[in-house]
Amino acid sequence: MTGFVVWFTGLSGAGKSTLAAMLGAELRARGVHVEVLDGDEVRTHLSKGLGFSREDRDTNVRRIGFVAKLLARAGSCAITAAISPYRSIRDEQRAQIGRFVEVHCACEIPALAERDAKGLYKKALAGEIKNFTGIDDPYEPPLSPEITVHTDRETKEQSLARIVARLEELGYVPRRGSALALSGTPGLVAPHGGELSVRLATGERGDRLADRARDLPVIELDAPAEMHLDLLATGALSPLKGFLTSKDFLRVAREMRLENGLPWPVPVTLPLAARDPSAVKIGAEAALRTRDGRLVAVIEVSDLFRPDELVSTRNAQSPLGDEDLAGVLGRAPSASVLVGGEVHVFDRPIGAEIPILPDEPAATRAMFSARGLSQIAALRTEALPRRAEEHLAKAALEVVGTLWIQALAGGGMPLELRLRCHEILLAKYFPTERVLLSTGAAVTRPAGLRENLMGALVAQNHGCSHAVVSAGAERAFRVYAPGEIGIVPLCLEDPFYSTVTGSMATARTAPGEASTRWTASEAEILAMLERQQRLPEELVRPEIAETLAAWWALERF
Ligand code: ADX
Repeated sequence: MTGFVVWFTGLSGAGKSTLAAMLGAELRARGVHVEVLDGDEVRTHLSKGLGFSREDRDTNVRRIGFVAKLLARAGSCAITAAISPYRSIRDEQRAQIGRFVEVHCACEIPALAERDAKGLYKKALAGEIKNFTGIDDPYEPPLSPEITVHTDRETKEQSLARIVARLEELGYVPRRGSALALSGTPGLVAPHGGELSVRLATGERGDRLADRARDLPVIELDAPAEMHLDLLATGALSPLKGFLTSKDFLRVAREMRLENGLPWPVPVTLPLAARDPSAVKIGAEAALRTRDGRLVAVIEVSDLFRPDELVSTRNAQSPLGDEDLAGVLGRAPSASVLVGGEVHVFDRPIGAEIPILPDEPAATRAMFSARGLSQIAALRTEALPRRAEEHLAKAALEVVGTLWIQALAGGGMPLELRLRCHEILLAKYFPTERVLLSTGAAVTRPAGLRENLMGALVAQNHGCSHAVVSAGAERAFRVYAPGEIGIVPLCLEDPFYSTVTGSMATARTAPGEASTRWTASEAEILAMLERQQRLPEELVRPEIAETLAAWWALERF
């Protein structure tokens, strides 16, 4: 039997229905078949006519238990959400069903009475409703539920994440990114938020959009907006559908979450740069133009806002500290207006310049699936493949078994050159069947903590189970509860060549002073090329050194 029952219990208004629905969506996104049996809904048909006497409540709860058991037997996950106030009846259901996870939604009565969404506590306290659970009717909390969530102290997202983590721990659902899905077939990690949100329209739809764009007021994209728009086009920023509105922006800045509570670290924003800004209006459309003069997308403008009026380091904090918040706000020029709204892209803003390797999440997912893979580590990099990158790649391979390298547009040296170097390195120094190579648009500020997180989410959208991030980014991942994001970070220290060990190493693996640790930045490598100095094997493989030297020679003439 693979089915099971998640049994929510708790007072009216404690959050059972909300969490049941959220859990349902989360499990569905992971490929689990789910049915939710909600108390209020059940009372409109299956238990129609029943009241709130002990007897009627017992009947109601037994009916729900009966249907849940059938569903579990048929292999589904049944989630029930009824007060189910009596312990003995719940325990009876537990005994009958077997695969039973009891979730206690605990919430203090004063908090419930204050919230009182249905206005029932007010009436019960005034004596207008009799036998109201928790007021003048008993509620027997479970003695040893599988999990208790405190809905007056934690956010719904935190509660959900804790429930999911517990289900994983108990073995009812596979860990995100784990090899086997419930059905026993290998599966890729779900995209962030559940589904890919691809904003690129092709064919006739794309042509129609392009026609429409010609008559619209034009907003000029800056470099970061171009990058973000390109990632939106492919679905790499799923579940985002466009540039953030003020509500999303505010929560992203202060809590690293979208308005709906989903983890999201980076404000994906569009500054209003237009010849006639007043022509860009809320409720109307505008066209987006790249720096090289191409119209590439239409935005449905749903918000225009000044970020500095919403949030500042004086009135807000970030989970990563003041410096982080200042960094987030500093990215938008002060006093600038941002445009929020969903986008429809008809021409890739930067994809066109990149040598074509499959870089849409749907394409990488198809590539991984076709090879039967589910455990893939991502190394997304703007750097030249030095020995340091090779070491990171191999550390990830050692742990995960398959590696996806995404060479990103941006960075110091031309992408084409870096791509050549990757290919040369892979062919000679890697088991090629274990490594896949793509290109893609970078997120700006590659070293930022939030960008590290976003890079990992992009990798998850591409189907990767693990992502290489810098060791310092570990604390950014800890902002979220376990299970809230589906990808596992591999937090790795910067590698160097250790003259003590005579090998590539990191601060975690080699002893010795800084003087025994040898690295070179890209700028230093360029300087060596300029001096026509041979690049030492400790920094770059000889084949790469040769390629770089040849490129440099051509560049100079
Ligand atoms: S149970 O006790 O039989 O499990 P169930 O979850 O189906 O209860 O229904 C509870 C809902 O019925 C509450 O959320 C509330 O909206 C409504 N309700 C109406 N009267 C009562 C009452 N006397 N006690 C509790 N809930 C009531």
